Amino acid sequence: MDHVLHLRCLVCGAEYRPDEIDYVCPKHGPSDGVLDVVYDYERISATRESVAASPEPGMWRYRPLLPVESDSAVPPLLVGDTPLYDAPRVAAELGLARVWVKDEGRQPTASLKDRASAMAVVKADERGLDVITTASTGNAAAALSGVCASTGRANVIFVPASAPPAKVAQLLAYGSRVFSVDGSYDDAFELCLQAAEAHGWYNRNTGMNPYMSEGKKTAAYEFAEQLGWTVPDAVFVGVGDGCIIGGLHKGFRDLLALGWIERVPRLYGVQAKGSRYLAEAWERGEDVLTKPPAPAETIADGIASGLPRDRLKAMAAVTETGGAFVTVDDGQILDAIPALARKTGVFGEPAAAAAYAGLLGAVEGRLVGADDRVAVLNTGNGLKNVAAARQAADRLGAAPTLIAPSLDALDRALAEKEGP
Ligand SMILES: Cc1ncc(COP(=O)(O)O)c(C=O)c1O
Ligand SMILES: [Zn+2]
Repeated sequence: MDHVLHLRCLVCGAEYRPDEIDYVCPKHGPSDGVLDVVYDYERISATRESVAASPEPGMWRYRPLLPVESDSAVPPLLVGDTPLYDAPRVAAELGLARVWVKDEGRQPTASLKDRASAMAVVKADERGLDVITTASTGNAAAALSGVCASTGRANVIFVPASAPPAKVAQLLAYGSRVFSVDGSYDDAFELCLQAAEAHGWYNRNTGMNPYMSEGKKTAAYEFAEQLGWTVPDAVFVGVGDGCIIGGLHKGFRDLLALGWIERVPRLYGVQAKGSRYLAEAWERGEDVLTKPPAPAETIADGIASGLPRDRLKAMAAVTETGGAFVTVDDGQILDAIPALARKTGVFGEPAAAAAYAGLLGAVEGRLVGADDRVAVLNTGNGLKNVAAARQAADRLGAAPTLIAPSLDALDRALAEKEGP
């Protein structure tokens, strides 16, 4: 890993060798001391052509840009290579130059978190640790659980008791040891930290583990590669802990440093009104190192975070790119599920559809306009939370029509409502 210079504390700038430290800056501890992986870009000899031609599967074709050894084995599940769809009907309706939707619901466990969890399994292997643990609102857990199942590795999961049943079902099917914590995601996080330390488990937790945003940054690489090494003008993404948006920022910055792209897109972080820690800090110019935890109540479980663990990276992503934080209420999030699905065929869970709801708000607020080529990151599959999707349909009055199994009954029903 001689292309990795060091791990740098985002608070005090202290630098650590990767073999010296696994998680946070010891001077600041688990809540604040988030580390950034710093590269010596001169030592990266890969080119746009060489990554495109790499035989490595999915996200691992960017291995020369990732903080892993050149010979570390990677898990067999195919992570990455998710489709980027053009959405001309959305662009026309919103008056934007172009709209794309990148569908991370197509990942093996159906969310973007597979990118980070695959990275966690490789890093745990490099460290020679047998058990991996994480706290999660559900998707990071399902991702870790699935990737671990693919390599036969033990893992221990902490989710809030409110996690959607589909995500918990994934954990049980994959055979994880699952603890359903009687409390919030933030409570599950604290318990997981203590457990990791007490039992010597490898800790995948967002914010604690500096490599998670490094896995997620591969989504930015794919955006650029899929657009012929150009970038959108603006990218919209749902934000809870801030690891995804921080990862996107890192990915685009890597490519800029390597000279593979010419600029970094504006990054727009979309938060729920009921879990708006980062949006509030950004609007008020508050210091996220001193701002106390805020409420985290939203139907979009993936973006419910009272103390966003990657808040430093998330704030930098928005401020340094000239983007913004926008907030949407739960009604707007629910309505965005069928709105996106009907115009693109992409079915997102609430935390994912929030990004689309944020785009709609940003168009109204003129944060984006006719000159902008905009991308929306659909971070998780709609099947992750079927109850929310049905609630969204109910709000539209959309329901199946119950009929007797006969053509007569069908024709009567069709006659009542014009067209199929
Ligand atoms: C579907 C989905 N979208 C967005 C997010 C937010 O990601 P982050 O917590 O890194 O901001 C999550 C996190 O769980 C998620 O599951
Ligand atoms: Zn520090």
